[in-house]
Amino acid sequence: MSAPQREKWNSSLGFILAAAGSAIGLGNIWRFPYITGKNGGGSFVLLYLGIVLLVGLPIMYLELALGRSTGKGPVGAIASVAPKSLWKFLGYLAVITGIGILSFYGVVAGWTVYYFFKSFISGFTPGQSGNVFGSFVTSGSKQIIFMGIFMGLTTGVVVMGVKGGIEKLSTVLMPVLLVLMLGLIIYAMTLPKAMSGLKFYLVPTSAGFTKTTFIYALGQAFFSLSLGMGAMLTYGSYLQKKENILRAGLIVVIFDTAIALMAGFIIFPVLGGAPAAAGPGLVFVVITDLFSVLPGGRIIAMAFFAMLAIAALTSTISLLEVAASYLIDEHKMKRPAAALTVGAITFCVGIPSALSLGASKFLSNIGSFAGRSWGFLDIFDYVFGNLSLAIGGMLLVVFVLWKWKLQHAEEEIFANSKAGPWVKYVLRPLTIFVAPAAVALVIGFLLFTGKTLS
Ligand code: PFF
Repeated sequence: MSAPQREKWNSSLGFILAAAGSAIGLGNIWRFPYITGKNGGGSFVLLYLGIVLLVGLPIMYLELALGRSTGKGPVGAIASVAPKSLWKFLGYLAVITGIGILSFYGVVAGWTVYYFFKSFISGFTPGQSGNVFGSFVTSGSKQIIFMGIFMGLTTGVVVMGVKGGIEKLSTVLMPVLLVLMLGLIIYAMTLPKAMSGLKFYLVPTSAGFTKTTFIYALGQAFFSLSLGMGAMLTYGSYLQKKENILRAGLIVVIFDTAIALMAGFIIFPVLGGAPAAAGPGLVFVVITDLFSVLPGGRIIAMAFFAMLAIAALTSTISLLEVAASYLIDEHKMKRPAAALTVGAITFCVGIPSALSLGASKFLSNIGSFAGRSWGFLDIFDYVFGNLSLAIGGMLLVVFVLWKWKLQHAEEEIFANSKAGPWVKYVLRPLTIFVAPAAVALVIGFLLFTGKTLS
């Protein structure tokens, strides 16, 4: 009996929208602007663009290539290249990292749903956004309920499959996201302080720009492009042989970067300069407060939080899909059972994160390290959202170069492409030297300073 045909994306556009949907998320709209705000504005933006091209793109290609060539998720892909070797732990690391990230990402994603409904039902009172945020995140029941709603939505989409769920949803939602963003940018440009905000955002200066800015830009690129945990590898495994990875990967990277830049064109004109409060509060407190005094602010806030929720959902489904596809491929589970199992596990793993924003004293402050106190969510963000992605990315490059061989990766990347040979010669040193060296620096930084990159 032959194995059933693996499900494939319907069209190139479907894949591009799904992969871009994975990449485009809270990382672009929520994290990118505040990291930019903290790290020097325009100078950070320039550095980020360079890193995305020199480090992010080559790793994106390796993941897509390994996924398509083997037709498997991370665990299966590694087993087909290096059966019965210790490399299998890299595959398991990817699956665990997906669940780890989703468990806390789902908490923040839940906030977007709450804020959307709150804008719709009552709106926000000027000057009160800090209190609203404070009482919301410290309510354990609300945190768990909204995280649960988001996990439920995510699981539902994954149950419906690659074509019928992920691709269909991304094809509908990504254009909606674009329209919402464009509308919000136009609106933001009409605000009185738009120009001073743009100046901070776009003019490179040395303020806030330090030696470690480089590390932050790299961490952001990894997270934003969904690299280092097999999400792109898994999406690549559903790619048809006739597709052109060189082109598709480039489009996904450009799309993701363009959306991050566009998010800046909303946030900074609304702020009118450098953010006073960086961090999670930037969007949920500062921006929300500014909306509350602006003309038409309630509708704008609804559009803004709908945009965030959409971006988050197309990312959470890719996080869940990695572990679900593992159960389907390696344990022969049916898709609905696999998705529900992963959804339920992640929901349970997410509960301590949901309670670590004030609801539980113990979980909110587990201990002090590297000069600050750490809650459960902070620890998960550090371990899975920062360290695991960098280690996973690094090991993936080593695995490809050493075990699978670059030549096989290149055959896959350049199949169906008419690119001249020079592209290969540019990409090769980036893959062999630049990307692993850069990622090694990040790992060193994370381990030796104990700082997170967000
Ligand atoms: N790229 C997503 C974002 O920018 O929000 C987050 C993410 C999704 C990271 C999927 C990793 C991943 F595998």
